[in-house]
Amino acid sequence: MVEVDRKTFLASLPAGALAVMSHEDKAEALEHYMEDELDDRIAARRGEADGEAGSIITLDELEQEGPRAPRGTGRLFQPTEDEFAPMPDAPTLLDFFRLRFAPANHVLQSATHALTTGQPERTIFACLMHDVVLNLIKGDHGWWGAQLIEPYVDERISWGIRYHGPLRFYADDEFGYEYPEMYNRIFGHDYVPEPYIKQAYEFARGHRYYAEARLITVNDTYAFQDNMDVDIEVFTDIIGRQFKQPKEGLGYDNSPVAHMWRTMANPNRPL
Ligand SMILES: [Fe+2]
Ligand SMILES: [Fe+2]
Repeated sequence: MVEVDRKTFLASLPAGALAVMSHEDKAEALEHYMEDELDDRIAARRGEADGEAGSIITLDELEQEGPRAPRGTGRLFQPTEDEFAPMPDAPTLLDFFRLRFAPANHVLQSATHALTTGQPERTIFACLMHDVVLNLIKGDHGWWGAQLIEPYVDERISWGIRYHGPLRFYADDEFGYEYPEMYNRIFGHDYVPEPYIKQAYEFARGHRYYAEARLITVNDTYAFQDNMDVDIEVFTDIIGRQFKQPKEGLGYDNSPVAHMWRTMANPNRPL
């Protein structure tokens, strides 16, 4: 399990960032930090390049490094020395997993937990997709993540992904979801979510699809295991049944979200 200690996490934030960060900003930063740290640790264990566990940059190093990309910038748009692998002409969701989202350990583990505990296939797939939009953009990722897949899935799946963000901050005994102790350690016991988060939570709480989002938050908490490897192949059949793959390829089907997929396929395109 990836444990986050307050000092290490805070040191991972850009210099001066804390003073201007809201609690929600910090919660987002924490989640992204944990996902990156998970990928690093698994890569290090496998002996893969770039996988230096504990390679999180320190505050001192950051101060020397100068300007950085804004924190809401997606993973594909962070500074990198790697080339992007070419995409097929008509890319599928599996192509995106292999060529743009990899290693994607957190979502793969989250879907695996849903699978091995006998949850509905729709929930397994929602878990698999719940954070992939972090490759495109990190801010307000529930909303962006829902939009990214909306034309291709059952509406309960995108609905659940949209509201998993706000629900993280609210416990639910019935589902066995506790307010993450880590949030207390990082943000303090007096933390109160911003009004728009609370409003979204209250709307979701009274909605008939509530469980769709709640189950994503439950599986989320089991998906930071640094001793667990999952291959996307495991989910090939589930993807086939739960995702309406456009025959023209993602990005080329003229859907209202095609541009989002094209942007991820071509992170170097300037306009
Ligand atoms: Fe998330
Ligand atoms: Fe997550």
